[in-house]
Amino acid sequence: MAVLLAESEACPEEAPAPPALEDLVQALHHLFAAEKVNVAQITNINKNPVEDELEEHNNSGFDDQVEIYTRNLVDKGNEKFNLMILCWGEGHGSSIHDHTDSHCFMKILQGNLKETLFEWPDKKGVGEMQKKSERVLKKNQCAYINDTIGLHRVENPSHTETAVSLHLYSPPFESCYTFDQRTGHKQRVKMTFYSQFGERTPYTTSVSQENN
Ligand SMILES: [Fe+2]
Repeated sequence: MAVLLAESEACPEEAPAPPALEDLVQALHHLFAAEKVNVAQITNINKNPVEDELEEHNNSGFDDQVEIYTRNLVDKGNEKFNLMILCWGEGHGSSIHDHTDSHCFMKILQGNLKETLFEWPDKKGVGEMQKKSERVLKKNQCAYINDTIGLHRVENPSHTETAVSLHLYSPPFESCYTFDQRTGHKQRVKMTFYSQFGERTPYTTSVSQENN
């Protein structure tokens, strides 16, 4: 049964701090076992710091041979959500993209990430895309977006430090649109993983097409 996420409902209470990624996954499974899940509940779970034992897991997603950030699937959430770790090399960034009618939660585990929000282009899809806002998210900060909020680009603004982020998408999706900032033209791209459950994905299907 599909889980509905209602933004407007108040969050009953803050969840206890998960001490490790495994516990975070368990807490998420517990939440998503309910008929409805509240956006604020997931945000609150995400707000709690995750232990630095993630470091080993995080670093396995860095690859000098890959010129773009890597997407590393951690958990499939009983098909209700996808949880993944994204590893951003120095200066790596995504295209401007949508989220295929899903809810997207992002938490910074290491370094900083800059998020730039854009308006949807008009139906003609011509002309420079309009920026709504931009901000730099630091370690343990969280962000949330869905298609009604707009589109965004995420990038590691540092040319000397890497960054790592944890992403939850519900429901999971396999493709999204990326947008050309100068023209607003969109293109459908397939989601790919560099690794799944700690195992490297065969190279032909593992290169990210800038879609997180
Ligand atoms: Fe995104």
